[in-house]
Formats: sequence, structure tokens, C-alpha cells
Amino acid sequence: MSMLEVKGVTQRFGNLVAVSDVSMAVEKGELRALIGPNGAGKTTFFNLISGFFRPTEGQIFLEGRDITLMPPHARVRLGMARTFQVTEIFPELTVRQNLRSPVELALGLRLRPWISSADNARVKDRVQELLEMGRLEAHADRLTGELSHGDQRATEIMMALALEPRILLLDEPTAGMGSHETYSTAMLIRRLHRQQALTIVLVEHDMRVIFNLADRITVLAEGKVLDEGTPDEIAASEVVQMAYLGKAA
Ligand SMILES: Nc1ncnc2c1ncn2[C@@H]1O[C@H](COP(=O)(O)OP(=O)(O)OP(=O)(O)O)[C@@H](O)[C@H]1O
Ligand SMILES: [Mg+2]
Repeated sequence: MSMLEVKGVTQRFGNLVAVSDVSMAVEKGELRALIGPNGAGKTTFFNLISGFFRPTEGQIFLEGRDITLMPPHARVRLGMARTFQVTEIFPELTVRQNLRSPVELALGLRLRPWISSADNARVKDRVQELLEMGRLEAHADRLTGELSHGDQRATEIMMALALEPRILLLDEPTAGMGSHETYSTAMLIRRLHRQQALTIVLVEHDMRVIFNLADRITVLAEGKVLDEGTPDEIAASEVVQMAYLGKAA
């Protein structure tokens, strides 16, 4: 059974068809890249998978379960987490504070009026683990808004990981980064993918990142799947070269 299966999904905004009859299956443990020109429908597709939009047509399955009409928080409970194209952290909180809320949520402590010292220790340990995994220990007690773009993005990715997802959706994690930060963000994604046995769907524009990380690539253009295959297959694909890679070069 696939981790994620999308069947004939369409999203219309008035007359505009942002996502048009898209089908895609992502297997457990796969790292799938989603690429395509600006306006191709990548973020809209993420909003459909994560439940921020309800598709005009089609169905979405998470490990065989129909989640098409399920709200985002219910999908999080089933093991899906995402990050956004524009970073969604609380800049006025420290990195450690930002990580605390999703950890409490994952441990089922979020709605308790008080937390026992034993539970508090569990939260602290888990936050520490996430800081180390994200290589953020040195910045743990700094305000997140004061960090570099790359460290803010790492904080956001670790906040999503704190929810203990089995599938993680990352919308342009290296957007607006220089080559050094792009490289370290790509390495973080690779580490998480390997160490946590995570399924990842990644929207990305940087071709080096995509060709280094992805098991398979799906190419969207004008809301439709143009092609899908391994990095080598996509690099050699004539339709993709004509419609996308050629233009980008
Ligand atoms: N909420 C919305 N209401 C109306 N139109 C929208 C909405 N969201 C997206 N669109 C339109 O749908 C199309 C696809 O947009 P989308 O943001 O999904 O593209 P994208 O592939 O993520 O692009 P980018 O690479 O620039 O992030 C665009 O024409 C966009 O203007
Ligand atoms: Mg987008």
C-alpha cells in the first residue's frame, strides 16, 4: 500500500484550473520531489494533500485511508506534517520555545491545565533531541527571528518533525537561500529522511538539491503531470526539457 495516493485530483478557482486531474502515488520511505514552473500548481497541490483545500474532484488516500474531506489537524494526527513556502515560526520566541508546543501536542499534553514534572522532563528531552537532530543546539536560546534564514528554516522543519509524522511535506525549503544555506538545508532533509525512515514530498526549484535528494520526481506544468520518473529519467525527458528545464536554463 502506498503511503500517499492521489487519484484524479482537480482544484478550480473560478475559471482557473490550478490542479487538473493529477494522480500520484508516493511509496513508504520515498523522497519525492515535485517540480514545475511558477504557477504550475505545486503549492495548491500541497494544500489539497494537507487538507487546507478540498478538491473540486478526486480523492486522496493516506496509507489506504480516504482523507479527501479530512481537516488539516486530523491529518496531522494520522501522521502528516508540512512546512510552508513562507516560513511559519514565531520570531519572538526562542528556538527551544518554538519546539515546545508541537512536542507537547505530540505527547498529548497540549490541553492539560498543568504538566507534571515527569512530563515536563519528557518534553525537555524531546526538545533537546530535536535541537540536536536539527543541529540547532548552539542557537537554542536565541530568538528565532534573529537567526539566519537557514537556521529559521531548520527550526520550522524540526517543528514539523516534532509532530512525529510519517510523511512530511516541504514547500520550497530552500527558497531565498544562498548556496551555503541551500546545501545545509538539503543535508538536513537527507539526514531526516535516512534516520527517521520518513516519507518526504518536497517542492523545490534548485535542481542540484532535487537531483541529489529525490528518489523520484514528478513534474507539474499548468496544473497537470507532465512527466514522472527517477532523476536520470527526468533529466533525459524531452517533454520536460522542452517545457521546463530548457526554459529555466
Ligand atoms: N487561493 C487561491 N485562489 C485563487 N487562485 C489561486 C489560489 N491559490 C493559487 N491560485 C492560482 O493557482 C495557480 C497555481 O498556483 P500555485 O501557488 O499552486 O503555484 P506554484 O506551483 O506553487 O507556484 P510557485 O512556484 O510560484 O510557488 C496560480 O495561477 C495561482 O494564481
Ligand atoms: Mg508555490
